Amino acid sequence: MNDAAPEGPDDDTPDIETGRWLFAQPCEFLRGVVEMKGLPETALPEVAFAGRSNVGKSSLINALTGRKTLARTSNTPGRTKELNFFELGPQGQAAVMLVDLPGYGYARETKARVGEWTRLVMSYLRGRAGLRRVFVLIDARHGIKENDHEVMAMLDEAAVSYQIVLTKIDKLKKGELELRLEEVRADIRRHVAAHPRIVATSSEKGDGIAMLRAEVASLADPAALGYKPQA
Ligand code: GTP
Ligand code: MG
Repeated sequence: MNDAAPEGPDDDTPDIETGRWLFAQPCEFLRGVVEMKGLPETALPEVAFAGRSNVGKSSLINALTGRKTLARTSNTPGRTKELNFFELGPQGQAAVMLVDLPGYGYARETKARVGEWTRLVMSYLRGRAGLRRVFVLIDARHGIKENDHEVMAMLDEAAVSYQIVLTKIDKLKKGELELRLEEVRADIRRHVAAHPRIVATSSEKGDGIAMLRAEVASLADPAALGYKPQA
């Protein structure tokens, strides 16, 4: 849309090359967390991947990092049961923490367990000081559902910045993506903490991955970003 070497303080288009560079750096699993007191203490900027069960959070982290098995994925919803923390950045100087969250809205779990997970994820999302942005993943075939709206409303209220990422766009028929984007665009206008840019992705085919890497890099610790794009 804007190819004319945008410059100046008003421009916040993320830089694709910095994203590519960052995600070529090592990415290490730090720990899985099941309760608030297990959260790593860190000064690193953090980005989290949230969304309904099976929407493709873990697959997206694998696609971003180019590692097929870094985050565990599954056909069965409810695969990720912990908050999984991954450090990304040059050796000895991590730039950003990626957090793979358990999904919400998994009907086959007992109510008590759903409550437990939801409470943990919600407490994390609301109270994490270094959390720079939450990527709220939405299955491009299904659009924003009731429980997505609940999470978005909670993030609005807690003033936690979030960005919608459509997943599995490879499963859409021609023309469907534009309609979905229109619908989501109209929806997020009503949400104060929603970022206006929507990223449409396919972890399977690679669409949108370079853009999402760039979004993450724009939130990373600048001191750890060795790559300086040419002016
Ligand atoms: P939970 O951890 O259970 O909340 O799920 P998740 O959101 O981490 O989903 P996961 O990455 O485990 O993927 C769920 C299923 O969707 C798997 O069978 C993936 O192969 C599939 N999937 C993920 N991304 C894509 C995609 O871009 N395209 C297609 N076609 N399938 C995908
Ligand atoms: Mg998962």
